[in-house]
Amino acid sequence: MWTPPERIRHMLPEPEWPSAEDAASARLFQPLTLQSGCTLSSRTWVPAMVPWRATSEGECTPELLEWYGRFAEGQPGAIVVEATGIRDIPSGPLLRAGHPRFIPGLQKLVATVRERSDGRTRLFIQLIDFLRIRRRPPPARYFERFFRPSEAHRQRLALRTGDSQWETASDIALRDFLTHSEDDTHRDILTPREYDSLTRGDRERVTDTHLAHIRDLPAQLPALFANAAKHCQEAGFDGVELHYAHAYTMASFLSRRNNRDDGYGETLEGRLRLPLEVYDAVRAKVGENHVVGCRILGDEIIEGGSGIEDTREFGRRLAERGMDYLSISAGGKFEDARKPRVGEAIYPYTGQSGYECMPTVRSDSRGPFGRNLPLSASIRETIRDHGMSTPVVGAGGIQTFSMAEQALAGGDADIIAAARQSIADPDWWRKMREGRGEEIRRCLCTNYCEALDQRHQQVTCQLWDRKGLEEPGVQLSKDGKRRLNAPPETPDTPA
Ligand SMILES: Cc1cc2nc3c(=O)[nH]c(=O)nc-3n(C[C@H](O)[C@H](O)[C@H](O)COP(=O)(O)O)c2cc1C
Ligand code: SF4
Repeated sequence: MWTPPERIRHMLPEPEWPSAEDAASARLFQPLTLQSGCTLSSRTWVPAMVPWRATSEGECTPELLEWYGRFAEGQPGAIVVEATGIRDIPSGPLLRAGHPRFIPGLQKLVATVRERSDGRTRLFIQLIDFLRIRRRPPPARYFERFFRPSEAHRQRLALRTGDSQWETASDIALRDFLTHSEDDTHRDILTPREYDSLTRGDRERVTDTHLAHIRDLPAQLPALFANAAKHCQEAGFDGVELHYAHAYTMASFLSRRNNRDDGYGETLEGRLRLPLEVYDAVRAKVGENHVVGCRILGDEIIEGGSGIEDTREFGRRLAERGMDYLSISAGGKFEDARKPRVGEAIYPYTGQSGYECMPTVRSDSRGPFGRNLPLSASIRETIRDHGMSTPVVGAGGIQTFSMAEQALAGGDADIIAAARQSIADPDWWRKMREGRGEEIRRCLCTNYCEALDQRHQQVTCQLWDRKGLEEPGVQLSKDGKRRLNAPPETPDTPA
C-alpha cells in the first residue's frame, strides 16, 4: 500500500452526535428530490462497493442479499449497488446486468432493500464497463508468449552490453537472454508498454485503436449501457449510476491521457463525447422519470491525467445534459498502481491515486477525513455558477455528523456518502437520526476491508467479522473464519 511521504498517524475526529431533535432539523436528514422526480428521504448515501458475493456467473446470492439488506436497515437515503457488468461475458464473481436472465436475481435485491429499509431507501445500481487485464506473467511465459522481438530491441541490447553480436541475434537467443535478465535490463531494452505488461500484466487501453473491439467501443457501449440500465429498471431499481470513475473504460475516455484521434479523444470535447452519448442512450431507454446519475473523478491523481480544471467542465456538461446527480470520487487508477506479484492482477487502489480514493489514517498533514470534499465543492460551484441545481455527492473519509453537516452547510456537497463507515456500522445513519450516535461503531480507516477487496475475497470489517461466529443463521466466509455481515444492532457497541 502506497503511503504519503509524510506518515502522520491521525486520530479519529471527535464526534459530536446530534440528539434526535437536532437530527430532525439537520441538513443531513432533510429530503431531496432529484430531477427525474425520485425523492430521497435524507441526504445520506451508501456509495458503490464491490463485496465479492455474486456467483461466478454474475448472479445474486443470499450473501449478496444479506449484505444489502444489512445496509438497508440503516435506512440511508440511497444505496448504490456495486459496480455491475453491462456485458454478457464471464467476469468472475462480479454482479452482472447484461442479459434479461439477471432480472429475477436483481428483483430480489430490490425487494430486500425495500423491505428491510421500510421503504425509506432508494436503490440505484452502478453500471460498469472495463477492459481486459491479464495477471502478471512469470518472465519465461511473457518472453515466450507475448514478446515480439524487433530490430530496436536488438540494437538497444547491443548498446547496453557493448556486444554487437546482439544486433543479429536470433529470436530464441533474445528471448532466452531477457528471460534471465534483471529488472534494470528489462527497463532499458523493452518499450515502456512492454515493460508494463511484463511487470504489471498486459492491460488493454481505450487508446489501443489498432484492436477492432477497442476501436468500436464508441459504437458498442451506448447500447450495452442502455440495455443493462433497462434490465435494472425492469428489476425495480430507482435508477442507475454510470461508472465514469476510477480505472475503467469510461473514465479512460474522459482522461487527459486519452489521445484517440477518431473524435473520441484528444480534446476535452472529444473525451466527453462518449460519456455524453452513453448518457443519451441510457436516458432514451429508461425515460425521463428514472434516475440516471454518474460517478466521475474530481482528479485522476496521475501524471498527465485530468485535474480539477477538466473535471469541473465534465461536471458542468454532464449536468447540462440531464444527469440526476454527480457523485465525485478521486484517483483509483491503474497507471500508478503497485506492481502485483507474479500470478496476480494489478489493483488500482494501491498507488497514490488509490490512496486518494480510499485514504487511511496514515496520511500527510491533510489527513484522510473529508479529503476529497474540495473536489466536490469545486465541481458543485461550477454547476451552480451555470445556474443548475444538480445535486453533487461527496465522499472520502466522512464519518461523523459534524463533518457531514459542515460539508452540506459549506456547499461542499448536497449528499453525503460514506462507504467504509457504512461497512463498519450499517446502522450508523439511523442511530444518528435517532439520537443514538454514542452507539455507532466507528470505522478505523485502516483499510482491512480494502485489502480483502484487493484479493477478491468477501469484504468484511475487522471490527465485527470475528464476533459471534456460532450464532444461529450467521453467514460465514468461504473459509468459515469470518462472519459476512455486521452483527444485529445492540445498544452497547461503541468503538
Ligand atoms: C471494499 C470497497 C469496494 C469498493 N467498490 C467500489 C465500486 O464498486 N465502485 C465505486 O465507484 N467505488 C468503490 N469503492 C470506493 C467507495 O465507493 C468510496 O468512494 C471510497 O471508499 C471512499 O469513501 P469512504 O472514505 O467513505 O470509504 C469501494 C470501496 C471499498 C472500501
Ligand atoms: S475494515 Fe477497517 S477501514 Fe474497513 S470498514 Fe472496517 S474499520 Fe473501516
